[in-house]
Amino acid sequence: MFVCTQCGYEHPKWLGRCPSCGKWNTFQEEPEKPAQKSSGEKKKRKHGNRKPQSLVEIPENPAFRILSYITELDRVLGGGIVEGSTIIVGGEPGIGKSTLMIQLLAALRHESVLYLSGEESAAQIKDRASRLSITSEHIKVFCETDLEQILGILQQSLPKIVIVDSIQSVKSEEIGAIAGTVNQVKYCCLELSDWAKETGSAVFLVGHVTKDGMLAGPKVIEHLVDTVMHFEQGHSGLRILRAQKNRFGSVDEMGLFTMNAEGLTAVRDPSTIFLVHRSGTLPPGITSAIVYEGSRSFLVEIQALTVVSKSGYPRVYSDKIDIPRVSRIAAVMEKHLGMNFSGQDIYINVAGGIKLNEVGVELPLALALYSAHTGRPVNRKAAAAGELSLAGEIMPTPFLDRRIKTAFELGFEQVLGPSSEDIEQNGYIGCSCIQEALKTVYSIK
Ligand code: TYD
Ligand code: MG
Repeated sequence: MFVCTQCGYEHPKWLGRCPSCGKWNTFQEEPEKPAQKSSGEKKKRKHGNRKPQSLVEIPENPAFRILSYITELDRVLGGGIVEGSTIIVGGEPGIGKSTLMIQLLAALRHESVLYLSGEESAAQIKDRASRLSITSEHIKVFCETDLEQILGILQQSLPKIVIVDSIQSVKSEEIGAIAGTVNQVKYCCLELSDWAKETGSAVFLVGHVTKDGMLAGPKVIEHLVDTVMHFEQGHSGLRILRAQKNRFGSVDEMGLFTMNAEGLTAVRDPSTIFLVHRSGTLPPGITSAIVYEGSRSFLVEIQALTVVSKSGYPRVYSDKIDIPRVSRIAAVMEKHLGMNFSGQDIYINVAGGIKLNEVGVELPLALALYSAHTGRPVNRKAAAAGELSLAGEIMPTPFLDRRIKTAFELGFEQVLGPSSEDIEQNGYIGCSCIQEALKTVYSIK
């Protein structure tokens, strides 16, 4: 049987492209699954003593959380580590997953913690810890890849917090000899999360994710765990930790760290780290967007460039803002401003390398595209936030007051956004549509 490592689709033959998720080169041979015991037998209906309960009879069971006091991590987890939960920490090799995990264990100095390594030797882990000046006695390290051995150690030592680095390196004899196959990863993940649930300990599963997709890993086990965090690379030493799924908190949260000689350090005030400090007039195609992610608002520089397409097939190149979003905004501008992007390649970039998936970027994105296409720079002291409808209207945008406050605090003098009767801030210009926003931008002195 061949299985897609992206989505788990099964097919008896190898396929170049997965018919289910559309990814290329993701098929991998899997050993036959052990025959299910109940196959062929007629399923019996079991009668237990248990009965369905009324919702009101179920006792409240608030999740008990352990704080790591690494604020950026606690925030992404939704306010600390929930007991009995399983958390995936995904990211490309070298991004800093192992560093974050050892720093987490060091921070939990009043808990019993265990670092299970299937990739690095104890000496390598010691070496990393020494570089980070971590000498904590409470951190126990065990190097093992065999799931049954791991479960034995866990049952014996009952640590409160366990790191499994990485889930792809663990294998169970039940499933076959090779680690990292889809079924191995799924089975090991299930066994470990069952153990977490039974004992109330929390298990962090480190998972490697490659650039061109996910290799037999995090993707196929996402639905089996409580929380999925992803570590992304920003510019230079910046690392962005995001929750992609969280049964115990919001998925909009974002943690920011910088990687330096002391390991990962939290970025306390993110409001300006994505801005490029310039003097004089801005180059055309540059605008400042006020974004709101998780529970914080900050300013980000959006850059646009339009050039005549050399291939004859105009394309949008944008990896920080979704291509469909960029295409839609360009289409709105063609329709409602009479602009012509046909025959043009559009390039969009976000300074600082942060991915933006938020409606508020649409107005500043439109302004950047207009500025790039016409060669007319926008005012350096102006910032914008707003969602655009297909009719070119600027729609009400969430957390507008917080965004406006942040921009003015950072020294911006004009803020453009949707018209709002609730906002009486000097310097805020509410516009009903993209045409009005452009008129305003280019009349600001
Ligand atoms: P690592 O945590 O091993 O990454 P992962 O587990 O995601 O593969 O760390 C990767 C990089 O971080 C490595 O190239 C070295 C760098 N690094 C620092 O810059 N400072 C440090 O203090 C440490 C420990 C690592
Ligand atoms: Mg590692």
